[in-house]
Amino acid sequence: MSAEKYAFYQTLAAQAHALISDETDFIANLANISALLFNEMPDLNWSGFYLLKQQQLVLGPFQGKPACVRIDIGKGVCGTAVATGDIQVVPDVHEFPGHIACDSASNSEIVLPLRLRGEIIGVLDIDSPLFSRFDQADADGLVLLLHALEARLEQTL
Ligand code: SME
Repeated sequence: MSAEKYAFYQTLAAQAHALISDETDFIANLANISALLFNEMPDLNWSGFYLLKQQQLVLGPFQGKPACVRIDIGKGVCGTAVATGDIQVVPDVHEFPGHIACDSASNSEIVLPLRLRGEIIGVLDIDSPLFSRFDQADADGLVLLLHALEARLEQTL
């Protein structure tokens, strides 16, 4: 990862830690993380969480336009991240089979599984109007931030 990008994500992870370290409420912490990402990462049109409830992803705290509420495991980019357990980096959402279009402005997307004690409990989903907005360095950087969130969730849930 470039030194510049690494520094950006280290700062973002530190900001995330500062936002959630004194708060135990799960929804409040996810809400503040989605707002942090939306405001600090350039060129986004949506950032937020879907949470697994009875084997379906259900819309959680987010920033951006209203979005589809329920996504089945294995469907769309989000459901694929849950089914595979892998981070999905999608340079062109129009080429992703089964992509679920919530905001027509989205052209690229990254989805990371969110885990509690090793079990997937949801996903972090980030959309951009730019093509190829996210790469492996963004995935690695966002993992830093998710680790801070997952560590906090382990203390509070
Ligand atoms: N594009 C996602 C759906 C969620 S919205 O992007 C907010 C998907 O294909 O799973």
